Amino acid sequence: MFEISTKDLFLWIKDIKNKKQDIDNFYLLLDLIGGISKSDLFLLRINSNEKVCLKIDFHSLKKKWIEHNQHSKPIQYISKSSYWRNFKFELTTDVLIPRVETEQIVEIATDIIDPEDKNIIFADLGTGSGSIAIALVSENRSWKGLATDIDTNAIDIAKKNHKKISSGSKLNFYCGNWWEPLIHYAGMINLAISNPPYIPREVYEKLPSSVMDFEPKKALYGGEDGLYHIKQIISDAPKFLVKGGWLILENHFDQSKKIQNLLQENGFDSLKTINDMFGIGRFTIGRYK
Ligand SMILES: C[S@@+](CC[C@H](N)C(=O)[O-])C[C@H]1O[C@@H](n2cnc3c(N)ncnc32)[C@H](O)[C@@H]1O
Repeated sequence: MFEISTKDLFLWIKDIKNKKQDIDNFYLLLDLIGGISKSDLFLLRINSNEKVCLKIDFHSLKKKWIEHNQHSKPIQYISKSSYWRNFKFELTTDVLIPRVETEQIVEIATDIIDPEDKNIIFADLGTGSGSIAIALVSENRSWKGLATDIDTNAIDIAKKNHKKISSGSKLNFYCGNWWEPLIHYAGMINLAISNPPYIPREVYEKLPSSVMDFEPKKALYGGEDGLYHIKQIISDAPKFLVKGGWLILENHFDQSKKIQNLLQENGFDSLKTINDMFGIGRFTIGRYK
């Protein structure tokens, strides 16, 4: 541990605010790298004579803040970690930083399934850091999860996160194209969830550098209209889902109607668009007839 005076820390915070730098990102850096949470800061304000114990030395922490400001590098990639729901995930630039709006997919999935139904097999297609699949098996201990990703490095990170967060739960990982590695589960999957790459070309090309320069293109880019991967996932779904099985997709703000049409053409009913916390039609769901 590295001690600094509370006064020095608060002077730094004041300087960041004066320079109109992003204070929320600073608090995230202080938490993820320095080991000081916002509630710790609140207590320090009350007991301002106390020393602050940081997990890294003050100079190195300052360097990391400069790295963030100069290159727009997300704090989560600098700290190699991110909070999501009530978990802390390990990250590298091989995986997307799990987004706050995606957290809701876990509730949607859990609410859709009859609580009496214990033998649920679910698939998380494009698992990235493993966030969705790990949250689901942690919160529904009788469920069995199958998580796929095209990227072997992503699978390695997801496996590590699973071991650290919820090692006793039933979750297997597979590397490959969407459903393909799950061929042994054809016709057996009760629920499939995917937050696939869905950003259309024009939008992708204008993404801020904090996203474009650091987050993996294969996690974001969905082809010309953003629907390239979604079409594949939907057209192969009938081979893998049980009759009555659900598909939950995250999508771009304007894709839901088109996705509902695709689902209908592929034998789904009970179609619904669900708004995210910002009021955007972010999730589209359907049930295989
Ligand atoms: C938007 S990210 C979602 C990551 C994670 N599920 C989340 O919500 O944070 C999409 C993921 O799909 C993976 N992916 C892209 N193309 C794929 C494919 N053809 N088959 C399987 N996974 C793919 C990417 O590597 C990436 O991890």
